[in-house]
Amino acid sequence: MSARVAILISGRGSNMSALCEAMKADDFPAKPVLILSNRPGAGGLEYAKAEGLPFAVVDHTGFESRAAFDAALHHALMPAQPDIICLAGFMRLLTPGFVEKWTGKLVNIHPSLLPKYPGLNTYQRALHAGDTETGCTVHHVVPEMDAGEIIGQARVPIRQGDTAEMLETRVREAEHALYPACLRKLVGQSSPD
Ligand code: GRF
Repeated sequence: MSARVAILISGRGSNMSALCEAMKADDFPAKPVLILSNRPGAGGLEYAKAEGLPFAVVDHTGFESRAAFDAALHHALMPAQPDIICLAGFMRLLTPGFVEKWTGKLVNIHPSLLPKYPGLNTYQRALHAGDTETGCTVHHVVPEMDAGEIIGQARVPIRQGDTAEMLETRVREAEHALYPACLRKLVGQSSPD
């Protein structure tokens, strides 16, 4: 049986499309059931449209509070009955109430080797610290930001002369392999080499 996967985005959606492309494999035990963006202009929505995937927009600017936005998000997700909700560049902090409703089903990808560098500007922070490697982490979502149990990580070298942009490109490439591998792990089948 295929697990039902909803993917939440705010922008480009390159991780979302990497997940969807991976789910096209016959042996991948999951399928995308909803792409949801909080920004009407999110680039990733173009992929969803081109692929004929169900998508929705819940524009956060139309809500007076985080709780009201999260209630609308919950309402939009419910009919899709997702088994897993993948946050993929979803740039809104979720309320504890929302996270509790979907406990165990919410996962996120973050561009650092957590617990190092939760939050924003991870590339700049790794460069500034003089680190020789960084990477990305897929983790369960808990009310505290970027603090949930780790599902998987990928390491990426930091090279002499790297800029934040160069690092971002290298990490993003690693993310596109890591997220599908972690999703596969989550839905109960090990990834073929
Ligand atoms: C990724 O780097 C992810 O780790 C972070 O936001 C970025 C989203 O990129 N949470 P994209 O929209 O998937 O291209």
